[in-house]
Amino acid sequence: MSFTIVEQAPARLNRSELAVPGSSPQLFEKAAKSAVDVVFLDLEDAVSPDKKDEARKNVIQAINDIDWGSKTLSVRINGLDTQYMYRDVVDVLEQAGDRLDLIMIPKVGTAADVYAVDMLVTQIEQAKGRKKRIGFELIIETALGMANIHEIAKASKRNESLHFGVADYSASTRARTTVIGGPNPDYVVLTDKAEDGTRQVHWGDMWHYAIARMVVAARANGLRPVDGPFGDFGDADGYRAQARRAAVLGCEGKWAIHPSQIALANEVFTPPAKEIERARRILQAMEQAKREGKGAVSLDGRLIDIASIRQAEALVATADRIAQ
Ligand code: GLV
Ligand code: MG
Repeated sequence: MSFTIVEQAPARLNRSELAVPGSSPQLFEKAAKSAVDVVFLDLEDAVSPDKKDEARKNVIQAINDIDWGSKTLSVRINGLDTQYMYRDVVDVLEQAGDRLDLIMIPKVGTAADVYAVDMLVTQIEQAKGRKKRIGFELIIETALGMANIHEIAKASKRNESLHFGVADYSASTRARTTVIGGPNPDYVVLTDKAEDGTRQVHWGDMWHYAIARMVVAARANGLRPVDGPFGDFGDADGYRAQARRAAVLGCEGKWAIHPSQIALANEVFTPPAKEIERARRILQAMEQAKREGKGAVSLDGRLIDIASIRQAEALVATADRIAQ
């Protein structure tokens, strides 16, 4: 292990994260009663400029009045390049109570963006005597943000998670796609011709680099990596496939832009019972090994060692949080 210890962000379930437009208060109660892990009330792109003030008021009222149960509650503020962002932070933190857990910052481009919001949030927390420290969720969705992702990830002690905003990222990088997330028929490999002259088409994952880079930046700083939206909410299989690819790379969860996607995200990002059971057996076997003074033992014909304990502990901790 490195002499540098990676401090972990506060542990939270983040398998599913539901986007709820702040200008649609009729959706709030349903979101609060859903099976989602995190709800973010949106003041940014789902809200048109003429509805920004109204949405802010709705969101403040909803944080104060609705019973959000044990969900993590977040507000997505507007970008730092807009005229709305300062008032989002000031009004929400001055007027909404301590039920709010997180602020989501969109289109983060540099570490200084996070620093600026941290400064504002810190002043308001102190001035108003807020008891719960607000954490940050950061959306990486521009070429600038992706280029600076490592500095961004370590820019504030409030940072908890990085999110891949595939829609804005596509626009920023001028990716040739018009769908939100998922594969692209132009991103394929054509195999060489076989003896019979036939060739095969292998689909590639055009988001692989971006998600893998985000996972590394997040994990190197103790943050949760979370995959963003999948636009075609009628395509459950497509959503599952994209979510599984993200899970394989290390993501902890995925956004739901429609309530039907909540169950899909929870399904994909809940560790399978078999894996949890094996993790518990690994911990038992290593306990036994420790008592016998051994550093590594074999379980089901495979070597397990100290690294296996860390993986198993993380899995069991997630399973216990889900069971609560
Ligand atoms: C999310 O905000 C996105 O742009 O995909
Ligand atoms: Mg976006």
